[in-house]
Amino acid sequence: MTGKKMIQIAIDGPAASGKSTAARALAERLGGYYVNTGDMYRTVAWAALQAGIDPDADPAAVVAKLPAWDLRLQAEEGVLQLILNDVPVPQAAIRAPEVAAVVSQVARIPEVRDWMLDRQRDCRHLGIIIMEGRDIGTVVLPDATCKFFITASPEERARRRLQQAGEVTPGATLASVAADIAERDRIDSTRAVAPLKPAADAEIFVTDGMEKEEVADLLIAAIKRKTGL
Ligand code: CDP
Repeated sequence: MTGKKMIQIAIDGPAASGKSTAARALAERLGGYYVNTGDMYRTVAWAALQAGIDPDADPAAVVAKLPAWDLRLQAEEGVLQLILNDVPVPQAAIRAPEVAAVVSQVARIPEVRDWMLDRQRDCRHLGIIIMEGRDIGTVVLPDATCKFFITASPEERARRRLQQAGEVTPGATLASVAADIAERDRIDSTRAVAPLKPAADAEIFVTDGMEKEEVADLLIAAIKRKTGL
């Protein structure tokens, strides 16, 4: 027995809903590891583009490449670093608009989702983990200690995304960003495998007009109620 606390917090929600910010804040306050599963799908999408594959036109080519990709999450000083074939994954590359434009097409490929599962569940041994994505409470960690679904109106989410430097194409407008994230949400919530939806036992938070700290405070209060942390 190590006496290590094993707590899993699952956070799901649509694009640009503020989940990452909330999950990062929780990891800091609880002394746990933040696991961004969106970055894992973005990494596969980025690697596919680099291999000259159009994931929408040729999903089979993405599946054929999976054995050549060794994707790992490596704990380094309390933070998880994504590693692809022994090289740290560059954040700027996977958050680029070209990757955002194809990531949902990659994430709807059943073989890709299946391939991801063990890599995501492997993190459980780390102790306190805060895992964020679309299917964490429903599929990846169905027995998570706490499950949250964080959302906001499409307008609020488009505004938030527009403020994130490097994540939108130059000249993007509120309307174009709103259209891009609406399309991604449409694909994510209508796919056959592990669609975006709240788990039956998730607490849902609508965060329009809330400050980042306010959202984190609400989640921390819910976690304390449930775990006595
Ligand atoms: O940060 P943002 O809200 O733009 O999205 P993300 O969390 O980086 O996720 C990018 C994409 O990966 C999503 O639009 C989904 O298509 C996919 N994804 C997924 O299918 N399942 C997850 N658990 C996480 C992400």
